[in-house]
Amino acid sequence: MRVGVAGLGRMGSAIAARLMEVGHQITAWNRSADKVEPLARTGARIAASPSELVGQVEAVFTILTDRAAIAGVYEGPAGLLAGNAKDKLFIEMSTVQPETEVELAKKIRAKGATMVECPVGGTVGPALQGKLLGLAGGTREDFSRAKPLLEQMCRRVDLVGPIGAGASMKLAINLPLGVFWQALGEAYSLCRHLNLDPAWLMELFADTSGGPNVLKARGGAVALALQSKDPGSATFDCDSIRKDFRTMVAEAKALGFGLPLAEKTLAIYDQASQEGWGRKDCTELPAFWSSHQAK
Ligand SMILES: NC(=O)c1ccc[n+]([C@@H]2O[C@H](COP(=O)([O-])OP(=O)(O)OC[C@H]3O[C@@H](n4cnc5c(N)ncnc54)[C@H](OP(=O)(O)O)[C@@H]3O)[C@@H](O)[C@H]2O)c1
Repeated sequence: MRVGVAGLGRMGSAIAARLMEVGHQITAWNRSADKVEPLARTGARIAASPSELVGQVEAVFTILTDRAAIAGVYEGPAGLLAGNAKDKLFIEMSTVQPETEVELAKKIRAKGATMVECPVGGTVGPALQGKLLGLAGGTREDFSRAKPLLEQMCRRVDLVGPIGAGASMKLAINLPLGVFWQALGEAYSLCRHLNLDPAWLMELFADTSGGPNVLKARGGAVALALQSKDPGSATFDCDSIRKDFRTMVAEAKALGFGLPLAEKTLAIYDQASQEGWGRKDCTELPAFWSSHQAK
């Protein structure tokens, strides 16, 4: 199939690579030109603008920072919606407030095209392996159209409800994840004085009811960071978590309630960012917290 990917950040690049690997013909575009080169080298076509991209493909994936990024890619004279969008399928995967997806879907439908939202759980590694968790929103009919592509990206993809439902679910899932990294930092501060091997400690935590699924995959990176060793490049950094938490807090406010724990957690990620940890992976937050307990 001819598939477009508009936006080649960490996730967009990984999704494009996965789609190529399973045999699709990829046309890509990114605002910053330097990010298109690695994909172009592997055989992807590069479009000069989002509007040009949409004319060359049957389906378009987007996974972008936030609402402003979605507006930047879809709207305007060179945006996706200015291209030949009729009958095309748009799969929008960004982590944003539900209302952003609802507004976008109206604009896409007005062009005679189809939209399914599908924010995802999992980071760059699972995206490259087609093992993301997909949280789709849309009609049953539209979801059926998107499902074959989504199943090539996801180990599990569920239709949660109408457009916006996927975004609500994604924010809900990321809340305990973001809180967990701070909880783990605080837990570590209680046993740090025992001078146990952090790698062993993370493996122990992962085997207890104090350890969520993510620790099985990321405990090794946490342990390296706790020992001030390089845990590798960030796939989901603290600044991205801050964006997600700001989005959760805004969504709760729009719904008329507060999120006291999420608000407090956001303040800690804000502090980490101010102290230079914003571009570090969220799995380094326990090390950030621990660095404040060092005697
Ligand atoms: N990283 C993860 O592990 C992960 C996992 C699940 C979901 N997510 C979600 O996926 C989305 C992307 O995350 P990411 O980590 O891939 O982010 P990223 O690496 O920072 O990439 C962001 C992308 O958005 C583009 N963008 C930002 N502002 C724009 C604007 N105003 N106009 C046009 N393009 C713009 C960037 O273009 P430039 O290159 O030009 O800046 C880039 O292509 C976010 O909503 C995030 O919450 C991330």
